[in-house]
Amino acid sequence: MSLPSRCAEWPTSRLAIGGAARAELPRNPFELVDLQRRRVAYLRLSVTDRCNYRCSYCMPAQGVDVVPRAELLNFEEMTKLVRVFVQLGVRRVRLTGGEPLVRRGVVDLVQQLAAIPGLDDLAMTTNGHLLAELAEPLRKAGLQRLNISIDTLDPQKFAEVSRGGALPPVLDGIAAAQRAGFASIKLNAVTLRGLNDDALLPLCDFAAREKLVLRLIEYMPIGVDAHWGPETWMPVAQARARVSAAYALEPDDSGEIPGGGPARYWRGRHLQTGQELRVGFIAAVSEKFCETCNRVRLSATGTLRECLSTRGVLSLRDLLRAGATEVELTAAIRDALAGKVDGHHYDAAEPTLESMSAIGG
Ligand code: 5AD
Ligand code: SF4
Repeated sequence: MSLPSRCAEWPTSRLAIGGAARAELPRNPFELVDLQRRRVAYLRLSVTDRCNYRCSYCMPAQGVDVVPRAELLNFEEMTKLVRVFVQLGVRRVRLTGGEPLVRRGVVDLVQQLAAIPGLDDLAMTTNGHLLAELAEPLRKAGLQRLNISIDTLDPQKFAEVSRGGALPPVLDGIAAAQRAGFASIKLNAVTLRGLNDDALLPLCDFAAREKLVLRLIEYMPIGVDAHWGPETWMPVAQARARVSAAYALEPDDSGEIPGGGPARYWRGRHLQTGQELRVGFIAAVSEKFCETCNRVRLSATGTLRECLSTRGVLSLRDLLRAGATEVELTAAIRDALAGKVDGHHYDAAEPTLESMSAIGG
């Protein structure tokens, strides 16, 4: 089917034709609503494809080729594009990488983005390695929320999994983030049997003690498929069973945890100590959440991607550098996303070839 181009009315009018609307009708006709009636309100912006770690679930041991710097969006381009996305109804932006903190001047970028009217929520996902120094400047520049990756609390295992990373600076980074007063700090761990399944309870205890939300994430077969087998891949149901060995868990439907993403949250109480835990499980593969997907991704080179599982649909960098106006950018984004795919097909085990670090998670 060929899609009508540059028709601002189109997705909205499809809404009126369909039966019960999944999203309410858009408040303004420029909001991005796709064919599945999912409103796009969340942008993940990769600020660099470079990373100081090489986590085994994210990239191959030898690392990945990085693109020449001139091909990366500069801060002015990123800010301009985010402004256009905000006009299209995006309210939340998460900065990702590679590792966002290795991009020089990232604090200035945060400051520029935080000043965009209409952007309600500015967050970042980081490996935490450089956070001890940067947490406070980032908070002051307007960053509101942080997700910090930490897959194990065993220093040796940590170095192994992250291939060259180190636990102490990450722990210092978490402490600095707590002092800096972020609105929310979450810890992310990808769960893999044989890699960190014995680390889940220590991570729970740490999160509970520090009063941080822990999220346990099912491995997604993106880029590298080394772990994509029954001997290593762990469904969240199993991760939850492991947590249940030490914590009484009950679903937490309070909606108090900010983010509104795909994690399903639970409240835990330690069976012996009574210590409370907030833990989320992200079942990207075993319990697909595509029907409520509200996000799009922009790579560090300015490629718009409608889903983690698909190739980019449009180079906004090329349009920008060819002199496109905000109106033209808006039209191009609407066109590109009108047909946003209905969902991923990892369950058919068809990995995307690009590494997660290039996409930004
Ligand atoms: N599957 C699931 N999550 C991943 N991440 C990176 N690679 C994968 C993968 N293959 C997540 C990690 C990290 C964030 C940057 O992306 O949780 O926190
Ligand atoms: Fe690890 Fe994140 Fe770097 Fe990937 S981008 S190697 S998950 S720290």
